[in-house]
Amino acid sequence: MKEYMDYKDEKKDNNIHIVNDVEAQSTSFYNYTINEKKKLYSFLFLLSLIFISLLTLFNFSFSFSNLSFINNNNIVNTYDLSSTVILKSLEKNYAGKWLKDYTIDNQLAGTNLKMVNYTLNKFIELGLTDSYIDQYTSYISYPLENSLSLIDSSNNNSIIYKPSLIEDILDEDPNSSYNVPAFLGYAANGNITGEFIYCNYGRFEDFEKLINLGINLKGKIAIVKYGEIYRGLKIKFAQDVGMSAVLLYTDPKDDGEIIIQNGFKPYPNGFARNPSSIQRGSALFLSMTPGDPMTPGYAIKPGEKKDRIDPFNTIPKIPALPISYKEITPILQKLSGYGPKLNNWDGLIDGYNFTIGPNPNFTLNLYNKQDFNISIMNNIMGKIKGYDDSKFILIGNHDSWTPAAADPHSGSATILEIIRAFGNLLETGWKPKISIIFASWDGEEYGLIGSTEYAEYYENELKAKCIAYINTDVSTIGNILNLQSSPMLNNILLDTTKELLYPNSSITLYDHFISNMGKIGTLGSGSDYTVFLEHLGIPSVDMGFSNNLKNSSIYQYHSLYDSYYWMTKFGDPGFIYHNLMSKFMSLVILHLSDEPVLRLRTNDYAIELEKYFNDLNIPKNWLNINKEKNLIKNNSIHKLVKIINNKLELLKTKTFDFDEYLSELTELFKKWEDLSYWQRIKLIFKTKSANSILQYYERHFLDEHGLNNRPWFKHVVYASGRYTGYKGQELPGLAEAIEDNDIKDFAIRLKKFSHMLDTLIRMS
Ligand SMILES: *[C@@H]1O[C@H](CO)[C@@H](O)[C@H](O)[C@H]1NC(C)=O
Ligand SMILES: *[C@@H]1O[C@H](CO)[C@@H](O)[C@H](O)[C@H]1NC(C)=O
Ligand SMILES: *[C@@H]1O[C@H](CO)[C@@H](O)[C@H](O)[C@H]1NC(C)=O
Ligand SMILES: *[C@@H]1O[C@H](CO)[C@@H](O)[C@H](O)[C@H]1NC(C)=O
Ligand SMILES: *[C@@H]1O[C@H](CO)[C@@H](O)[C@H](O)[C@H]1NC(C)=O
Ligand SMILES: *[C@@H]1O[C@H](CO)[C@@H](O)[C@H](O)[C@H]1NC(C)=O
Ligand SMILES: *[C@@H]1O[C@H](CO)[C@@H](O)[C@H](O)[C@H]1NC(C)=O
Ligand SMILES: *[C@@H]1O[C@H](CO)[C@@H](O)[C@H](O)[C@H]1NC(C)=O
Ligand SMILES: *[C@@H]1O[C@H](CO)[C@@H](O)[C@H](O)[C@H]1NC(C)=O
Ligand SMILES: *[C@@H]1O[C@H](CO)[C@@H](O)[C@H](O)[C@H]1NC(C)=O
Repeated sequence: MKEYMDYKDEKKDNNIHIVNDVEAQSTSFYNYTINEKKKLYSFLFLLSLIFISLLTLFNFSFSFSNLSFINNNNIVNTYDLSSTVILKSLEKNYAGKWLKDYTIDNQLAGTNLKMVNYTLNKFIELGLTDSYIDQYTSYISYPLENSLSLIDSSNNNSIIYKPSLIEDILDEDPNSSYNVPAFLGYAANGNITGEFIYCNYGRFEDFEKLINLGINLKGKIAIVKYGEIYRGLKIKFAQDVGMSAVLLYTDPKDDGEIIIQNGFKPYPNGFARNPSSIQRGSALFLSMTPGDPMTPGYAIKPGEKKDRIDPFNTIPKIPALPISYKEITPILQKLSGYGPKLNNWDGLIDGYNFTIGPNPNFTLNLYNKQDFNISIMNNIMGKIKGYDDSKFILIGNHDSWTPAAADPHSGSATILEIIRAFGNLLETGWKPKISIIFASWDGEEYGLIGSTEYAEYYENELKAKCIAYINTDVSTIGNILNLQSSPMLNNILLDTTKELLYPNSSITLYDHFISNMGKIGTLGSGSDYTVFLEHLGIPSVDMGFSNNLKNSSIYQYHSLYDSYYWMTKFGDPGFIYHNLMSKFMSLVILHLSDEPVLRLRTNDYAIELEKYFNDLNIPKNWLNINKEKNLIKNNSIHKLVKIINNKLELLKTKTFDFDEYLSELTELFKKWEDLSYWQRIKLIFKTKSANSILQYYERHFLDEHGLNNRPWFKHVVYASGRYTGYKGQELPGLAEAIEDNDIKDFAIRLKKFSHMLDTLIRMS
C-alpha cells in the first residue's frame, strides 16, 4: 500500500504545477515596494489609456465589452447571486450521509487507499472535475505491539496487574469494536522497567517543580495527565529531565462539571466520559517543527532523491503509551501516601490522593513496538479555476486515527457539502474571480505532515499566489461557534456571521458568537493552518462548533468513542451545526473568491499588534539601562519602545484609512452600471493596486531567520508556544527573549519589529 503511486502519473496534467517563469515573476513582484507597485499600475493605466485613445482616434468602433480582459462577470461583484445559489443548495443537508460513509473505516496516514479514493471520487462527483492525488514521502510509525505491567518488586517481581490498553466494546456503538490499537505516533520503541512518578500535566514547569523538590527523576517512568499543553511536549519535557518513558491518561477532573460524581452517566448512556476512553495522538515535538521529522523546511515527492536528516530533533527517543483513567487507577493507587503532595496537582481518581510517589515496592514495565518507516502521504486536491488563476484561496481538512466522526470527519462531511454547493453553482455557468483549491491533507494527525510537505514544496508558488487558507478540522462537536484567525480575516468572518441565522432562534450567528466566544482568537498550532500562517505568512483561519463543559456531552477526543453514534446522539443530532458550518464556510469562501476587492482588512491587525506589544512584560531594568550601546546605537530600549508605540499609533490611523478606502472601492463596484468606461478602468486599476497590497500584506510579518532554536517558525506575530504546542504565543521572538532574559536578542528583535512597522505604515 505504501508503494502505491498510480495517481501521480495518471493526474499529472491536472497538477497545480507552476509555470516556472510565472512563479518567478510573481515572486519578485511580491518583493516590490508598494510605491513601486503603485507606479507600475499607474504606468499600466496610462498605457491602456493611450491604447484606447488610439483605438478611438483611428475610428475603431470601440465597445467596452470588446476588451476581453474587461468582462463583467470577471469584474463586478457577483456575491449576491452566487450566495443565493449556495444557500439554496444547502437547504438540503447531506452531512450525515457523508459522515456515515467516512466512519466505515479509519484513514491512518499513508494507509487506507480505499478512503483516499472515497474522498477523491466524491470531490470529482460533486463538482471538482480538476482533482488529483499529490504525494509526498514521510517518516511515519505504525503500531505493532504494546503492553504495560504493574510489578510487585517486594514479591518476587510478580506481575499483579496488566491493563488491556484498549476501549471497552459498547453494544450501542458499533465503532467501539474497531480494531485500532491505542498508541502514540512516533513514540520510540522500548521495553522499560522502572519506578513511576505522578508528574501532573507534564508541563515544563511541572518537571521544574519536581526537580526543585529534589525528586530523583532519572530513569523513572512519568505518569502525566492529558490537558493544558500538547501531548508531544509532555514527552519531550520528560525526556529532557532524564525520565525513561511516559504514560498519559485523561483525568476526569479536566471534564469540568460533566463528571459521574455530578450525576452524569458515562457514555453511551449520558454526557460523562466513558472510563475506558483513551486518547491516541502524535508524540512529535510540534512546537519545534511540524511536518516530516526527517525533512524540516523541505519536502520529498515519491521518486525524488533528496537526503533526510536525523529525526530526533522533533520526535522522542523514549517510549510512551496512552491509557484510560479506568486502567491507570490501580497503578496510581500504589502511589498513595508516597512522596509529597503538591498544591493544585489533584485529579479525580478513586482511592488515590495524588501524592507523587515513587513507591519503592512497585515498578511498571512499559513496552512499545512500532514500525518506523518511510511512507507515502496522499493529499487529495481539487480545484475550481477562477478567471484569474494566478491567485487562489485554499481550504483544508485531514486524515484520522480512527473512524473518527468529529476529528476530522465532521470537517470532511462539511467540506463535501461545500463542494456539493459549489458544484451546483458551477452548473449555472458561474466562475470565481480567483481560483479555489480544496485539500484533504494526509498525515495531519502525526504532525501536520501532508499540509507542511505540500507548503514546503510549493513555498514560492504559495507565497506568490495564495490569498488565504481556510481550515476546518473538528467542524462540529457542539453548538458554540469558535473562530481563530489572522486579524486580516476578522472583518470578513464577522460580516459573514451576520448573514446567517442561529438555529432554533431569531438571532443571527453573529449575535450568538458575540454573546458566547465574544472575540476571534489567535492561532497557535495543532492543525494544518500552521505552515501557511507561521511559515509562509498567509492569512489563515480555523473554524468549528465546539461544546462547553457545563451541560453538553464530553467529546472523547482521539478515542474509538469519537463515533457516528456519539455524533448522532450527542454531538450534533440532526447535523444542524454541520449544515450551518457548511453555509458559513461556503459564504466565507465566496466572499474571498467572488468579490473584486479582496476581503482582507488591515486595521484589526494594527489594533492587535498594539495590544500584543503592550502585553509584553519588558523587565523594568531593561527600560532604564543604556549599556547596550553597540547593539542599538544611541537608542536605548526605552527610546525604541517609545518610537514603536508611536509607530503603532500611526499604523492604526493609516490602516483605518486604508480600510475605508477599500470600502469606497467596494461601494463603487456596486454602482458599476452607472460608471463611465473611464471611471471603470480607473476603478479596475485602483483595485488591482489595492489587491496587491492586501495579497502580500501578511508576508511582511515574516522574519527569514525565524525563532531561536526553531527557525522554521518565521512569523513575527504568531507561533506555536514553545512550552504549550497548541496554544499560540503572540510576538514569540520578543516574548521568548524576555523569558530567556536575553536583552541582546530582545534589542535585535525590537529593531526588526520597528522596521517591520515602517514597512506596514508605508504600505497602508
Ligand atoms: C483506488 O482507485 C484507483 C483508481 O481508481 C484504483 O486503481 C484502486 O484499485 C483503488 N484502490 C482501492 C484500495 O480502492
Ligand atoms: C520466585 O519466582 C521463581 C520463578 O518464578 C520461583 O521459582 C520462586 O519459588 C519464587 N520465590 C518466591 C519466594 O515466591
Ligand atoms: C461506525 O458506526 C456507523 C453507525 O453508527 C456505521 O455505519 C459504521 O459502519 C461504523 N464503522 C465501523 C468501522 O464500525
Ligand atoms: C522486556 O524486558 C523484560 C526484561 O526486562 C523481558 O522479560 C521481556 O520479555 C521483554 N518484553 C518483550 C516484549 O520483549
Ligand atoms: C494519602 O493516602 C494514604 C493512604 O492511602 C495515607 O497514608 C496518606 O497519609 C495520605 N496522604 C495525604 C497527604 O493525604
Ligand atoms: C515494601 O513491601 C514490604 C513487604 O510487603 C514491606 O514490608 C515494606 O514496608 C514495603 N516498603 C514500603 C516503603 O512501603
Ligand atoms: C520499512 O520497514 C521494514 C521493516 O520494518 C523494512 O524492511 C523496510 O526496508 C522499510 N522500508 C523503508 C522504505 O524504510
Ligand atoms: C431545532 O430545529 C430543528 C429544525 O430546524 C429541529 O429538528 C430540532 O429538533 C430543533 N432542536 C431543538 C433543540 O429544539
Ligand atoms: C446549556 O448552557 C447554555 C449556556 O451555557 C444555555 O444557553 C443552554 O440553554 C443550556 N442548555 C441546556 C439544555 O440546559
Ligand atoms: C542616532 O541614531 C540615528 C539613527 O538611528 C542616527 O541618524 C544619528 O546619527 C545617531 N546619532 C548619534 C549621535 O549617534
